Amino acid sequence: MDPIQIGIIGAGRIAYVHSRNIASAIPFAEVKGIADPFLTDYARGWIKELNIPVVTEDYRDLLNDQDIRAVVICSPTDTHARITREAVQAGKDVFCEKPVDLDPQEIRRTLETVKSSGRKLQVGFNRRFDHNFAALRKAVETRQIGDLHMIRITSRDPSPPPIEYVKSSGGLFMDMTIHDFDMVRFLSGSEIAEVSAYGAVRVDPAIGEAGDIDTAVVSMKLSDGSLAYIENSRKAVYGYDQRAEVFGSLGAMETANDVPHTAVFSGETGIIQEKPLYFFLERYEQAFVAEMKAFLECLRSNTEVPVGGIDGLNSVLAAKAALESLKTGKSVQVSYGQEE
Ligand SMILES: NC(=O)c1ccc[n+]([C@@H]2O[C@H](COP(=O)([O-])OP(=O)(O)OC[C@H]3O[C@@H](n4cnc5c(N)ncnc54)[C@H](O)[C@@H]3O)[C@@H](O)[C@H]2O)c1
Repeated sequence: MDPIQIGIIGAGRIAYVHSRNIASAIPFAEVKGIADPFLTDYARGWIKELNIPVVTEDYRDLLNDQDIRAVVICSPTDTHARITREAVQAGKDVFCEKPVDLDPQEIRRTLETVKSSGRKLQVGFNRRFDHNFAALRKAVETRQIGDLHMIRITSRDPSPPPIEYVKSSGGLFMDMTIHDFDMVRFLSGSEIAEVSAYGAVRVDPAIGEAGDIDTAVVSMKLSDGSLAYIENSRKAVYGYDQRAEVFGSLGAMETANDVPHTAVFSGETGIIQEKPLYFFLERYEQAFVAEMKAFLECLRSNTEVPVGGIDGLNSVLAAKAALESLKTGKSVQVSYGQEE
């Protein structure tokens, strides 16, 4: 069987990850083309290294290319919904980076277009494919922990992004906590029904001046009656802190951070071990490969994608509710969407 031909839209940080992973780890697919109107020299370098034959400024060239079966949308968030609609209307299956859009209405419109096109849409919630979190999900699914009572997620970055990024990111809940909202949904297999959020500026006053927060606690009621809470920080001096725990009637299971190696130094003044893997590119390297493999396997076997449009929509609805709770100081009900 000929390899599945892929088009990559955008040539920034995450586009490189997906392009490299397809080239190095997925033998039944090939990147045929890449589109970016603002191509950097750095991007030109890796595009050449990966031998991607078609390079264009206009993503429509990829949508019009009959050899290309699917596109991976890695352009800025405000382009995702529109390009997804155009792509499925052009007959392409779509892998779209998170979030699909910041506006739930725009996402709903996009999901309708996807549905009527009959094409597939997978959303880039890579953490579902992380080996640690997959083990927690299994413990809930197989009822090893019994009835689920509570989920705890700790998600802290090693350092905040540039202020320019903060200004256009949609805010901490949409940009960062969105992964954790999806993780709560994934681990529990339930929907987020009510949200209560606290936020603070403790890391950098410039983040506050840009209208955002850098420290947050979000507590939630889930549709199955269990509870969850997420804690976020834009800066943990010891590195990328990504842990979770599921707790239930038969026990608890928690994950530790992945580390570069497990060697521990013990000395007179204390015991020293490695810090967590630096950031998302390192920590979720395996998960980024696994999510793309899963998407492309679904194209090969014509099966349902593991992370669909409803996951894209309901995580954004939870983020919107958290923002409203932060503004009003009240708990906010989430009118989450249902799988059709
Ligand atoms: N799943 C994850 O963990 C993860 C991690 C990083 C980024 N993301 C998401 O991926 C998206 C891109 O993030 P990034 O960090 O790679 O950003 P980036 O700024 O590094 O790259 C975006 C690229 O898109 C290009 N671009 C702008 N308009 C375009 C258009 N109309 N058509 C094609 N290309 C266009 C830009 O020139 C730039 O090269 C964001 O939505 C972000 O939320 C997800």
